[in-house]
Amino acid sequence: MKRVLITSAIPSVNGVKHLGNLVGSMLPADVFARFCRARGYDTLSICATDEHGAPIELAAAEDGIAVKEYCDKWHAVQKDLGDRFGLSWDHFGRSSSPQNRALTEHFARALWKNGLLEVRTTKQAYSATDGRFLPDRYVIGTCPHCGYDRARGDQCENCTRVLDPIDLIDPRSAVSGARDIEIRDSQHLFLKQSKFVDKLRAWIAGHVHDWPVLVTSIANKWLDEGLQDRGITRDLEWGIPVPDDIAGGQLKGKVFYVWFDAPIEYIGATKEWADKNSLGDDAWRDWWYGDKAKDVTYFEFMGKDNVPFHTIIFPAMIMGTGEPWKLVDRLKGFNYINYDGGKFSTSGKRGLFMDSALEILPADYWRYYLMANAPESSDSNFTWEHFAGVINKDLADVLGNFVNRVTKFCVARFDGKVPSEGVYGEDENALCAELDRRVAQYTDYLEALEFRKALGELRAIWVAANEYITRSAPWTHFKNDRAQAAVGIRMGLNLVHLFGHLAWPVMPNAARAIHHAIQDSPPVIPWPDEPMKEFLDQLEPGQAINPPDVLFAKITDEQVADWQLRFGGMGES
Ligand code: MF3
Ligand code: ZN
Repeated sequence: MKRVLITSAIPSVNGVKHLGNLVGSMLPADVFARFCRARGYDTLSICATDEHGAPIELAAAEDGIAVKEYCDKWHAVQKDLGDRFGLSWDHFGRSSSPQNRALTEHFARALWKNGLLEVRTTKQAYSATDGRFLPDRYVIGTCPHCGYDRARGDQCENCTRVLDPIDLIDPRSAVSGARDIEIRDSQHLFLKQSKFVDKLRAWIAGHVHDWPVLVTSIANKWLDEGLQDRGITRDLEWGIPVPDDIAGGQLKGKVFYVWFDAPIEYIGATKEWADKNSLGDDAWRDWWYGDKAKDVTYFEFMGKDNVPFHTIIFPAMIMGTGEPWKLVDRLKGFNYINYDGGKFSTSGKRGLFMDSALEILPADYWRYYLMANAPESSDSNFTWEHFAGVINKDLADVLGNFVNRVTKFCVARFDGKVPSEGVYGEDENALCAELDRRVAQYTDYLEALEFRKALGELRAIWVAANEYITRSAPWTHFKNDRAQAAVGIRMGLNLVHLFGHLAWPVMPNAARAIHHAIQDSPPVIPWPDEPMKEFLDQLEPGQAINPPDVLFAKITDEQVADWQLRFGGMGES
């Protein structure tokens, strides 16, 4: 059986994610995971919260709570929102887990042993009042370029210039406001990335045909610009401590840089999953390590800003261990989705966030819209008018209306049972032939991670069904040719059944409601592998159906106006 391992870039734990984050990693990963399960592949889908790093420490301090408590709280919120969005992870872990700590230590030890880490002395801001080193962004002061008096030591928010803490006028600690900022020497571990250039280049060249151009071009650009060795430790308290046996204890009190331990959490979360279910160590290792993992195909999903970490840094870490850990096979990177012409922004609270999206509409509306407009070949743009147009046309008029019309008519005229009269003729055969092609195409696009094209094909299938039922016109035939009407409705009900199967990866709840019109659904609605002639002729005549309520409500102009006002999508940025 085909084995498929799926990870999506692990979202930073701080706060609720916006729809741009969702469509760039977690949602396509879920659609693909569901598709794989429907096809009967042995599938493992992993995600987690990314819980370390200075921004997390700072955010917790701003809220006046302990970092651990802060992470507990937001991890739970993100898990809940993921569940409500239908994200069917096998495990949603935490990069702060003991499992990830042990694995991170393991990676660091292996790299150290292989001579691929090096201790270097760097200049770092230090405050005696705080009794600690301050990461660049923890130092605030006046920007030497524009005079903004709350510029951060890494960058001025006002004029966007990149800064060094030494540049700031009147520097002070963001933690305490203390002004006794001095520059001290601090020892850090560096990963000798420069040693990996040739290996990485060859590995990436081997993927030019199965990774999007977006991904290989970002990776090659990094390689062409020359790989700098990279600091992998930080002077923070919150994080995974560097073990004493590395570099003879010189790094005591330091933690690993968040980007070092975060990707390892893909493996860490898999171990969390195995531990939680008492499956033993082979259960997680067989996905990631050694011979057993060789027949696993590993898929990663992420936004384009994450691509360098997944094509350069994490692979270098893996290669550097000299151990047979799995490297990504298929890396799917996404562009950005904009919000009404501007950027989605978490810090600027601009755009639409997962919690408010669910307050106004069910998850499936968002899942369909976002995947149909996934930012694959270029950035895409969310506007409320476009969103309403797509939902009203594709989901309400084309899909929902078909299901409601056919099932209602069956109740009104055929006693709510699959009619038995008549036999399929030329029209039905032609439809089956067309759908054989289209279902195969839809399947191939999903297999190839071409989501926009896949959803275009799904829509074309709904359209073909509508055209068929218009031609077959059971409602007009009913009076003079009951057998002809029965054929149309029987085919119509079989099509409803098919839609329940085909929609499940994209719209799990709506698919279930549609499928339930015909029969109960198993937890995973399997992929229709039969020829359409068989699949669309399988409902038993006489079998009762359960017509659903209206599946998709149309979005009104008033709602659009209301949401634009509420969420600020009216062209301002
Ligand atoms: N938290 C990062 C972000 O939001 C993604 C981390 S992905 C991983 O951009 F590779 F580190 F896991
Ligand atoms: Zn400035």
